[in-house]
Amino acid sequence: MSGKTVAGAIRAALCERDARSKVMAARRVARDWRLGRLAFAFEVAMPDAPGRPEAPELLAPGRMPKRGKAGSERGRIALWHALAHIEFVAIDLALDMAGRFGAEMGPQFVSDFLAVAADEAMHFALLDRHLRTLGSHYGALPAHAGLWSAAHDTRHDVGARLAVVPMVLEARGLDVTPGTIDRVRAVGDERGARILERILDDEIRHVRFGANHFDAWAARLGADPQELWKSLVLRYFRGNLKPPFNDSARLAAGLSRDLYAGVACAKSNGISHASRDGGGFRPSP
Ligand SMILES: [Fe+2]
Ligand SMILES: [Fe+2]
Repeated sequence: MSGKTVAGAIRAALCERDARSKVMAARRVARDWRLGRLAFAFEVAMPDAPGRPEAPELLAPGRMPKRGKAGSERGRIALWHALAHIEFVAIDLALDMAGRFGAEMGPQFVSDFLAVAADEAMHFALLDRHLRTLGSHYGALPAHAGLWSAAHDTRHDVGARLAVVPMVLEARGLDVTPGTIDRVRAVGDERGARILERILDDEIRHVRFGANHFDAWAARLGADPQELWKSLVLRYFRGNLKPPFNDSARLAAGLSRDLYAGVACAKSNGISHASRDGGGFRPSP
């Protein structure tokens, strides 16, 4: 085992600044963990903020430039760039989940979220490659600055992190991705549509990992999982849970309709923080 710990390897991947190096580091830590090369030990803390490449420039959501018409070349590049950025941040979100909360949640939790990190690294690589076929690349445009805030706000509480990141933000991806796939296919981009179909399949599994570990966490606290989830989402998620929901994909991921429909109502009645940054981190194309 050569003395390497899982937390040390995760921290190194989080701190990696270059996009390609982070992709390789995330995949390496997932593989090394799977092969038993890393000790289940958490002697180092996770960084407050992960390493980032110099480009893209990160802008507040309200300062993002208009994306151009949906079918135009510029609009297409802006869509794939926004999607690539989401996947890039998702690598760090999964690594941080495993490294920050692995000690209290156990080896299976680490296995699940390192597998997610490896998936996100693959998603990012596929999207960056697709962007390059359109003559662009990740970093060529500005990107949304708000995506890490959900992680920062929930850094002290694994229940809150699971409730918000996989079970709200990634679940939102299940709702909007089928529409994006249809629009991408309608403009003749079959390869892009296939990439998004693969991502959608993987994201169902990511949401399911989140929901399963959330249920186990609620059981440890002796709490009702639905009540606990609702109270954490009302407290920590600043956007709105917006229908339409993709009920079948959500059900496949272990989220029942009465869970999120109840929170969507409470949110629209104003029983929560003021909305700060919209409904999650998928852009609607
Ligand atoms: Fe992803
Ligand atoms: Fe994901």
